[in-house]
Amino acid sequence: MEVRSLESSDREWADALVAQHFGSPRVVSRGRLHDTAALPALIAFQEDVPVGLLMYRVEGDECELVVLVSERPREGIAIALVHALVEHLRVSGCARAWLVTTNDNFGARSFYESLGWRLAAVHHGAVTRARELKPEIPVFGENGVAIEDELEYEFDVSRITRAST
Ligand SMILES: CC(C)(COP(=O)(O)OP(=O)(O)OC[C@H]1O[C@@H](n2cnc3c(N)ncnc32)[C@H](O)[C@@H]1OP(=O)(O)O)[C@@H](O)C(=O)NCCC(=O)NCCS
Repeated sequence: MEVRSLESSDREWADALVAQHFGSPRVVSRGRLHDTAALPALIAFQEDVPVGLLMYRVEGDECELVVLVSERPREGIAIALVHALVEHLRVSGCARAWLVTTNDNFGARSFYESLGWRLAAVHHGAVTRARELKPEIPVFGENGVAIEDELEYEFDVSRITRAST
């Protein structure tokens, strides 16, 4: 598997994948509306086929992981993307990575926890407020669970002293 930064020729594929998974190019986290078409990203390839996407934004010495999508479940694609991001942040001196997922997303929660990300906060009712910015957020997840809370996970990049994530 190869992971590299998104190039302009990848943008159409990336935008379509985000729209397919998030209902539009817009993603809301912590009361902020992101236009994903403007975010930097990493892409995973298997045999030259794009199979995974990670989008992020850096602010000061913190980085928010905004989008993570794997097109081939349980093949280590998301792990490769997150490891590449953490290594990039380590080299560039970013201290903290964080992200928001929602209470219904059990797969994502298991994934991040398996990688050592820590649940930093549960923002009760935050998705209800996020719908004011993005009305297309569904009321129920694919598993029938009501989508209500934002779960904030964090990873202490500064504790990584070499490429060991
Ligand atoms: C969550 C997601 C990114 C995981 O991608 P992936 O490429 O399948 O993940 P990996 O193969 O790298 O998984 C690594 C480990 O994470 C855990 N994991 C991943 N998906 C899981 C799931 N659905 N349920 C439980 N554990 C899971 C497992 O420990 C897994 O290791 P294993 O396969 O040896 O058991 C993927 O399911 C996805 O794209 N979901 C839809 C979009 C989304 O919800 N993104 C995250 C929201 S911020």
